[in-house]
Amino acid sequence: MKAAMFLFIALLAVSKAKVFSRCELARALKAAGMDGYRGISLANWVCLAKWESDYNTNAINNNSDGSSDYGIFQINSRWWCNNHRTPTENGCRINCSELLSANLHVAIQCAKRVVRDPNGISAWVAWRNKCRGRDLNQYVSGCGV
Ligand SMILES: *[C@@H]1O[C@H](CO)[C@@H](O)[C@H](O)[C@H]1NC(C)=O
Ligand SMILES: *[C@@H]1O[C@H](CO)[C@@H](O)[C@H](O)[C@H]1NC(C)=O
Repeated sequence: MKAAMFLFIALLAVSKAKVFSRCELARALKAAGMDGYRGISLANWVCLAKWESDYNTNAINNNSDGSSDYGIFQINSRWWCNNHRTPTENGCRINCSELLSANLHVAIQCAKRVVRDPNGISAWVAWRNKCRGRDLNQYVSGCGV
């Protein structure tokens, strides 16, 4: 019984979604090598996450083409992950639900894959509308990164 309860709590801990604070996310992304990845500074990634998901790993939004966007970077099911519901290229070779984890590992690896495409970070509409060409210092200031 105790073992079963422990397992239950352990499973909750790994699957539970999470809303990051700005600096907490900045530090996690930096630790994962996102600062300067493909020439993209850390502040761009934090800005992108702010406007795509408001730092919520559990965010899911539907698009007019029937696809959906998942997780802190709102990665799209038509191109990058499989939601077992709509057609996909599944470029990241993952289940879309893996992008909702409090552990950012899968989402970060997939975001790195997205920006290796020719469009780079311009793939994200919110980055184009809210981050491109702006002073992004506010997204990392005071975070010690
Ligand atoms: C998105 O679409 C899915 C599948 O059709 C549906 O279950 C879900 O409620 C929709 N979410 C929103 C926010 O509309
Ligand atoms: C995808 O992940 C969800 C949630 O973890 C799970 O219910 C589903 O079975 C998974 N699908 C596949 C094909 O792995």
